[in-house]
Amino acid sequence: MLKIAVLVSGNGTNLEALFDAQKRYILRTGHIVQVISNNPKAYALKRAKKAGVRADVAKTEEEILNLLRETKPGIIVLAGYLKILSADFLKRCDAVVINIHPSLIPSFCGLGMYGLKVHEAALNYGVKLTGATVHVVNEIPDGGKILAQMPVKVEDDDTPEILQQRVLEEAEHVLLPRTLEKLCQAKSLFKIKIKYPGRGIVIGTSPSGCPMFAYFITGRSETSKARKMIRAENDGVDIKITGDENVDTSLILYSPVKVINKRIIISNGDQTDDIYNGYKNNDSDFIRALLKRDYEPDAPHYTPRISAMLSPEFYLMSILRRDLLHNEGKNFYQGSYKKKGYGFIFHTYQKDVGVTRRLPSFEGAPKPVEISDNIGEFANNLWNELSDEYKVSLYVRYYSPDFKTYEDRLFNRCDEIQNEIQDEQPKEDKQA
Ligand code: GAR
Repeated sequence: MLKIAVLVSGNGTNLEALFDAQKRYILRTGHIVQVISNNPKAYALKRAKKAGVRADVAKTEEEILNLLRETKPGIIVLAGYLKILSADFLKRCDAVVINIHPSLIPSFCGLGMYGLKVHEAALNYGVKLTGATVHVVNEIPDGGKILAQMPVKVEDDDTPEILQQRVLEEAEHVLLPRTLEKLCQAKSLFKIKIKYPGRGIVIGTSPSGCPMFAYFITGRSETSKARKMIRAENDGVDIKITGDENVDTSLILYSPVKVINKRIIISNGDQTDDIYNGYKNNDSDFIRALLKRDYEPDAPHYTPRISAMLSPEFYLMSILRRDLLHNEGKNFYQGSYKKKGYGFIFHTYQKDVGVTRRLPSFEGAPKPVEISDNIGEFANNLWNELSDEYKVSLYVRYYSPDFKTYEDRLFNRCDEIQNEIQDEQPKEDKQA
């Protein structure tokens, strides 16, 4: 489930409409985890508490960022938040920010246009149609991409207060939940909710042309869960055991990422080394190295081996599975970076079954998904879509379009649990 934070300043009827949409399953692909207000007296805070949602007051952008770090939402909704957020905040907040505005943008919007003033301006101008707009927030007040609009008729005897009320009820309270659900669906990588996808790879291009990949681990057994990913030398990523070291590590300890000569190899097993060595010794490549390998020997599941490689010109994906219908179970796919804002996801298991039954392998080809521009938002959303019970680790890397530099994000569940335990301890303990 994608996590949503809502910023408010006043009454909070839009916030209430979102809570209501959650109850009625209109908002179902994301859920509100946090409400933040700049105004301690905002009635919206009471509504949040009543709904059992964490509610905080934050006066500065730094305070808001600190609160957001605790819940890592991928989407922030400004629902009657009457302060302008700075460009610096928008860059640092690791989420997509959307706003609801009570007019049809580009009319009656911009600096100083909020609340009743918008409706006064509409009546003074004499428009016969007004409405509401949901848009992405950027550094220009009310200037970001429009996501949805809904019109409302202006009546001859309208006062600003009557018009405000009608726009709220007829447009805002319908448009905001509906648009938010659509946005959550677009950002959701798992189109069908799977509690246990196993290990997974996402590979693609951001809207501004940055090649990217993500590798995630979910685990069910204690051994599988007692792991974390760590950044390794030469731009690689390794796995470290965090629990009992006297266990069979053959399938759980490997390098999920290795880089050689501008080729980035990603996989869920020791096939990373086969592909890497082939390139290093100049005697093999991605396909040849994998054709010598098979699915994992972990009966009864026979977990597929999933692998990918990014090169500056194209990327390759592979699934080796125990399934005679799939061409001996060895499948290769390719993609280019031309289709910006899109990529593919594939993972080891198709659906959840009981603990004792065989986990069915991922079916078909990698599934197309949307990739966002903001690495933090992408990483937060993917991490939040993995179930708290099974998620172990997530690594995300976005390259620059020329492949020369990169930015990354790394989340480990064991670190989060550690933080949660520390947070629960009394203050004196923490200082000790
Ligand atoms: C809403 O009409 C919202 O569109 C507006 O403030 C009101 C908050 O009502 N926002 C702006 O004007 C932003 N420029 P609420 O607190 O009852 O949801």
